[in-house]
Amino acid sequence: MTSTSPDPSARPSLPEDVVALVPMRNVVLFPHVLMPITIGRTQSLAALRYAVEAEAALGIVLQKDAQVDEPGFEALCAVGTLAKVVRQVTSRDGQIHAVCHGQQRFRLLELVPGHPFLAARIVRIEEPEQTSTAAEALGMQLRERAVEILSLLPGVPAELAHALQATRAPSQLADITASLMDVELPEKQMLLEMLSTEERLKKVLELLTHRIEVLRLSQEIGERTKEQLQDRERKFILREQLKTIQKELGEEEGRDPEIDRLEQAVAKAGMPPDTEAHVRKELARLRRTSGSGAETGPLQTWLEWMTELPWSVPDSPPIDLGAARATLEADHFGLERVKQRILEFLAVKKLNPQGRAPILCFVGPPGVGKTSLGQSIAKALQRPFARVSLGGVHDEAEMRGHRRTYVGAMPGNIVQALRKAGARDCVMMLDEVDKLSASYQGDPSAALLEVLDPEQNATFRDNYLGVPFDLSRVVFIATANVIDNVSPPVRDRMEVIELPGYTQEEKLQIAHRYLVPRQLQANGLSAEQCSISDDALNAIVAGHTREAGVRQFEREIARVMRTAAMRVAEGEAAAAVVGAAHVEEILGPAKFEREVALRASVPGVATGLAWTPVGGDILFIEATRVAGSGRLILTGQLGDVMKESAQAALTLVKANAAALQIPAAAFEAVDVHLHVPAGAIPKDGPSAGVAMFVALASLFSDRAVRHDTAMTGEISLRGLVLPVGGIKEKVLAAQRAGLATVLLPARNRKDLHEVPEPTRSALRFVWLETVDDAIQAALGAGRALQGRPQFELM
Ligand SMILES: Nc1ncnc2c1ncn2[C@@H]1O[C@H](COP(=O)(O)OP(=O)(O)OP(=O)(O)O)[C@@H](O)[C@H]1O
Ligand SMILES: [Mg+2]
Repeated sequence: MTSTSPDPSARPSLPEDVVALVPMRNVVLFPHVLMPITIGRTQSLAALRYAVEAEAALGIVLQKDAQVDEPGFEALCAVGTLAKVVRQVTSRDGQIHAVCHGQQRFRLLELVPGHPFLAARIVRIEEPEQTSTAAEALGMQLRERAVEILSLLPGVPAELAHALQATRAPSQLADITASLMDVELPEKQMLLEMLSTEERLKKVLELLTHRIEVLRLSQEIGERTKEQLQDRERKFILREQLKTIQKELGEEEGRDPEIDRLEQAVAKAGMPPDTEAHVRKELARLRRTSGSGAETGPLQTWLEWMTELPWSVPDSPPIDLGAARATLEADHFGLERVKQRILEFLAVKKLNPQGRAPILCFVGPPGVGKTSLGQSIAKALQRPFARVSLGGVHDEAEMRGHRRTYVGAMPGNIVQALRKAGARDCVMMLDEVDKLSASYQGDPSAALLEVLDPEQNATFRDNYLGVPFDLSRVVFIATANVIDNVSPPVRDRMEVIELPGYTQEEKLQIAHRYLVPRQLQANGLSAEQCSISDDALNAIVAGHTREAGVRQFEREIARVMRTAAMRVAEGEAAAAVVGAAHVEEILGPAKFEREVALRASVPGVATGLAWTPVGGDILFIEATRVAGSGRLILTGQLGDVMKESAQAALTLVKANAAALQIPAAAFEAVDVHLHVPAGAIPKDGPSAGVAMFVALASLFSDRAVRHDTAMTGEISLRGLVLPVGGIKEKVLAAQRAGLATVLLPARNRKDLHEVPEPTRSALRFVWLETVDDAIQAALGAGRALQGRPQFELM
């Protein structure tokens, strides 16, 4: 008999090794397991009908992709389970369910076409008759685990546990457990395909153990939450009972000591009447909801904030100008003009305490004493000092806070600083106003404007507080490294006081009076135990620091001091006297020395001066020529303005070739390469024109630039030297770098008075009207005629 179309008259039958298949989208049936299966597809219905009529086994097999409607051979998994259809049920919505009992695994060989259902040739996979001892042992473990997991799962019928207990054959046990487990389909299928009993047991055991861990954990967490909930409920009930008892006893209604404390604090805080009324209303609300409700915590925090802010106006101590002067003198060396301005500021405040004093803004490189001057002012005024760091603030909410309804809302940094200071008339330093930046979260400088504007700051609004706070009594002081980065409206409200940085001599004095004593104390040394000679201090400044301020200097002093302290502590010496030689020993060889002499000793290198936010620096401009076609190559990350300056400088050298005694042929068949190293300095701006011109002139006339000379200035194509900015910082940088002569545009002569006197007399200044002056000063006229190449004379 063939297996083609079924014979309608007889009972349909298929050959022994062919079965009707029901492909499953999301169920894996295991042997020994009873499971209802929903059948929807027409072919599957036909298969079911056949199996029932022929009393044949149905092949249940997982399809690889649940989306496929008519799976072919490739789309089916290789191993399935033969099932006996125990019962057929049609549910109320017309769906047909077959309750299947898994019998035995089979492997799919091929599909057999020509049937109204999927039919396939298969081989049955027999279970091993004998079980190994290892499998027995694993089976026992598995049984224990399975019973354990059932006890952890809520709502599992007790029969299931009994059934598991009763199952003896390990292979059977593995299949039943695998079927019950809540694991991903591919994992289930994998278990089905695992034919070795031992292997399958191991895998099931492993999965089960993991599941138990997870269940245990989640149960523990659940219980803890429940306990917490119960605790809260218990407290609530107790509180209610307490209220009732108090009422019975005729006592006042449930007083919470915490709320009482807040109420007293409100009474004492000295808030403006409107604000106090608002706060009392909130307090009453807290009393009503006392202890329960999600709002209590945040409300309480808000009330804490409100009561702890310095609302009342204190009696500011009178300003004693003499004492103030003494404080300023005691804390800072030099800075005469700055101190003078601060005293004027204090004098005006003394005469008119309510008046609008300007807001001072200290501008200068790092470590020149801006922040510490602010602290001195607070000390001189005998008021608390508060610091608000604006560096990196780019969200208005950081200054103004978030509304109270936000989760975890806090007041902005102004109000926070006020609370810390604890006084409404504190000195508040707005540090680094130049580092404020706008972002999509709003522009914080708008809030800053409101803070600084005396017209508005009496009603400064912090979103968290929700009520205005009067900032008019706060003495604001701002600091910035670069005033150009401060937004113009903010700048407009402040009076800028510049601190340009210190000369070597000033640094020495600062070290003597402040840094050394401070570090001695910090390192637990007395002045007798350790001293540092002037030579040593000078060596530190010149060789180990390159800064306008004194921060690095102080750090290096500290390092030297630590070494000395160690020697004294180890008993190596009773006292240490640090000389210049020790400095090299402790800090290593000088880092910044000789660079100038070294670099500038060949033709084509000029020393320029650059202005930087940290106080001016020297930079080398190097020019060289290579065989080529007349190109100008520029490297060193130059900005556009600087590139144009370089072009102009080269043209100017060519135009003045004769005067510079450069043969015209020198420019032929060469490329000129101009390089400005010193990576950290932003290199744009026109002020390197003179230096580039000199470097190129030096290169083509083959004369080295004087190595003790630095220069700055812009050039015009006609050879005029034009003025530039940052003279003071540049001159100080030149002195720091150990240079002797500085070439400056003649039209900057008016700026020289800004340079402190000791520096002015330590350097030689040459004022440049034209580039000829620069050549004269930098290359030296006398040397020009010596060593000229002979061909020039021809
Ligand atoms: N003239 C001075 N006299 C005494 N000490 C000084 C002087 N200038 C600066 N200092 C000291 O230098 C250190 C650094 O100063 P400060 O922190 O005020 O610098 P800053 O200008 O605020 O720098 P930054 O811009 O980096 O914030 C402080 O310990 C300060 O006491
Ligand atoms: Mg500072």
